[in-house]
Amino acid sequence: MTQSQVTGKIRCAAFISGRGSNMMALVEAAKAPDFPAEFVLVMSNDPAAGGLDWAAGQGLAAIAVDHRLFGKDREGHERAIDAVLEAHGVEFICLAGYMRVLTPWLVEKWQGRMINIHPALLPDFKGLHTHQRCLDAGHERHGATVHWVTPGVDEGGIIAQAEVPVLAGDTADMLAARVLVAEHRLYSTALRQVLANLTKI
Ligand code: GRF
Repeated sequence: MTQSQVTGKIRCAAFISGRGSNMMALVEAAKAPDFPAEFVLVMSNDPAAGGLDWAAGQGLAAIAVDHRLFGKDREGHERAIDAVLEAHGVEFICLAGYMRVLTPWLVEKWQGRMINIHPALLPDFKGLHTHQRCLDAGHERHGATVHWVTPGVDEGGIIAQAEVPVLAGDTADMLAARVLVAEHRLYSTALRQVLANLTKI
């Protein structure tokens, strides 16, 4: 019997590559008794990712599978990650600042069970450096998007978005900080919504 059969909660993993503030917000939100998910694993491609220590301090399994050990074998790296996911009985993945492009192998295996947060109002500004690109484009609104992960980077169906204003005098860092606050609120709300729909199927 898996833990989710005991608690009725979906067993989630969060993937991080760095500080992990979105992961922290998800883990904190999931402490609510009525939250439909529990985080059982924090996975990183980088053993130095700051969020790993925080996750371990929360009593979570916090595991790095260092991509550098696999050279150009991206799928081999993901097969090693996937073995860890299976060993922890993971049922759903939240990419939360995971800075590697996934191979079709992992995406297809987890399609419909993997979501991502992107710091822009998709379909605007797919990819990197979204805040500077938003300023350069002269947009008045910016924000964040939670979306399904599909083979095309930042192209999966949109689940939820949060807008923030672009203010006069904003730098990319100022805008990033405003978007990050919105990300932290948005991700757990979107996860709740997705899992409610999944469990109705
Ligand atoms: C977030 O803005 C996320 O949307 C982007 O990278 C940042 C990661 O921040 N992909 P954190 O690691 O969650 O603090």
